[in-house]
Amino acid sequence: MNTGAGGIPVDALNKMEAAFELADLAAQITKHDQAYHRDDSPEISDADYDALRARNGAIEARFPGLVRADSPSKRVGSTAAAGFTKIRHAQAMLSLGNVFSEDELADFLTGIRRFLKELADDETIPLEMVAEPKIDGLSLSLRYESGALVSAATRGDGAVGEDVTKNVMTFKDLVTRLPGEAPDLVEIRGEVYLSKADFQALNVRQAEAGIKIFANPRNAAAGSLRQLDTSITAGRPLKMFAYAWGATSEPIAENHWQFLDQLKTWGFQTNDRTRLCAGLEDMLEAYTAVNDARASLDYDIDGMVYKVNRIDWQERLGFVSRAPRWAVAYKFPAEQAVTVVNDIEIQVGRTGSLTPVAKLEPVTVGGVVVSNATLHNEDEIARKDVRVGDTVVVQRAGDVIPQVVEVVADKRPKNTQAFQMPDTCPECGSPAVRSEGEVARRCTGGYTCPAQAAEKLKHFVSRGAFDIEGLGAKHIADFFEDGIIETEADIFRLGEKRDALLEREGWGDLSVDNLIAAIDARRAVPLERLIYALGIRQVGQATARLLAKTYGSLSAWMAAMIAAKDPESEAYQELTNVDGIGPSVAEDVAAYFAHARNLGVLEDLGTQLDVANFETPDETDSPVAGKTIVFTGSLERMSRGEAKAKAEALGAKVAGSVSKKTDYVVVGADAGSKAKKAAEVGVDVLSEDEWRTLIGEA
Ligand code: IVH
Repeated sequence: MNTGAGGIPVDALNKMEAAFELADLAAQITKHDQAYHRDDSPEISDADYDALRARNGAIEARFPGLVRADSPSKRVGSTAAAGFTKIRHAQAMLSLGNVFSEDELADFLTGIRRFLKELADDETIPLEMVAEPKIDGLSLSLRYESGALVSAATRGDGAVGEDVTKNVMTFKDLVTRLPGEAPDLVEIRGEVYLSKADFQALNVRQAEAGIKIFANPRNAAAGSLRQLDTSITAGRPLKMFAYAWGATSEPIAENHWQFLDQLKTWGFQTNDRTRLCAGLEDMLEAYTAVNDARASLDYDIDGMVYKVNRIDWQERLGFVSRAPRWAVAYKFPAEQAVTVVNDIEIQVGRTGSLTPVAKLEPVTVGGVVVSNATLHNEDEIARKDVRVGDTVVVQRAGDVIPQVVEVVADKRPKNTQAFQMPDTCPECGSPAVRSEGEVARRCTGGYTCPAQAAEKLKHFVSRGAFDIEGLGAKHIADFFEDGIIETEADIFRLGEKRDALLEREGWGDLSVDNLIAAIDARRAVPLERLIYALGIRQVGQATARLLAKTYGSLSAWMAAMIAAKDPESEAYQELTNVDGIGPSVAEDVAAYFAHARNLGVLEDLGTQLDVANFETPDETDSPVAGKTIVFTGSLERMSRGEAKAKAEALGAKVAGSVSKKTDYVVVGADAGSKAKKAAEVGVDVLSEDEWRTLIGEA
């Protein structure tokens, strides 16, 4: 394992070997630093560790030009990022999809019935749902081993959260031990919140002390939990409603309703407005009842959550991207207020889209002061006919950007003028054009437009992307404006700009060290995150994952995308054949690669980063892992959706049409041309039963 300290004598290394070894040494030393300083569990002896550092120093002395930005010689001791230790959730913490109307809620139920084929075939089979208030706090995962609480973590990015165990220990109602016979492992999830009364009392205290006032109970709860000084948390009466489980060593319950009972038996607080619903009618009743009671509750809620009661059905339904198919949130109507439009400005987005934004006379909407509201686009602003000087209704729903709902017509002053969208970009002067079929008018300046370039960089470090601790959108914008960074790859060379950083207001040795450590901590990046971070049009997290899954490695993906420039190419065919990627996305991806600047940046990033190949779910013993499957015709035992989800869970890829790359075609009844094509190409054709036998379901 210790490839660094042995091997070729330093004098005999050539430049290439030296560069590779320095990269390897940087990674190894960082890993051992973390094991030692952060996790208190060193994996090698001090002497072996010193030997690694010595070899690193010797190679650098011989090749000073190869000293890396993240070289261990540039730092001492711990590289643990500032702040909290990270905890990887044994099972990811996901979010919820939203519905906004009764119709959408009905569609959600229909979708479930369609997925669980037996429910589609027989409408009389009941589909029980549990309705729970959606608590507006922050989610927490408590890990119990043999009944004892061992750690607590925030949601973080869903996969990795922050270790807040010490903070949680200050909760008055914390369950530190599950009474009775407890599973070997169970993660209990819930929402941490501050009651409205405690929030107000806290703000009074804060105001008296002349310190920060919190905007709402949720921010106050988050700020109180995430305190490095746990004595501050101790002074804040945080509570938790438990509502879900994560990883478990054994099944806990057959249905969610029963699980909630188990939670109560264990001593957790569950929400007493939770209802078991027989169908849509009950669900809507529960919604209205809770919405009516909303103001009188002592905690903030922002909607209802509906969950399929049967756990076996939840398991079959599984997840789409980051949200379960078996649960959904139905948000309460947004809170509204009336104010005046002082100005209308144009913001230029990451992909060049021009968004009109109303600058408002500041107004409080649902406890938060709002001074900007989006007007979406040219058509929307024209439809609502919003003008400078108008009195408007604004609304805010959850974390969504506030919107202008409508103009109060009889309050319009005289001599106002309809708003005109500019036909040049207000930031760079390039023509702003609206292509046919698009709602957005876009700046054509690309990276030459400073606003677009800055927005792309902000996206690059945003949450689902590189998410570098301590490097927020504001820093990026400032660094970009002052020329400290120009491209994405420059972020990873900030270590070389130490002096320039130190000259800036608000930056000192410690904060710069922390920033550089946080950047270094992100050099190892999963392929799907990198793809998402690039900010290619229409490539969100789900599509990025799909691309990573299809191509596996950065080099394979890049090669395929470069080849896909030609719509006649096989690479283009393969790309559009990925289930979930159509010609329009394919065009946007190809357009990104057609740009020399982008290729340069990607290559540059390749030298700065350690991009991990896509990890197929750990189903290596699954007979279909890595295989490409096409389903065709109607299956009898499963809906198409469930068959696809199942195949993917077993590590297979599901494609939309048959090609040479297809491994199996599974044919149901009335299969048409695809079955024929399979025979022509010579691909294995399976019946539904043969497929079930193959995956061990028969
Ligand atoms: S269940 C896999 N139930 O809402 C499903 N979430 O918008 C996990 N939330 O991240 C979530 N009340 O922080 C669930 N009764 C409830 C909830 C709830 C609030 C939060 C939770 C989640 C977010 C999604």
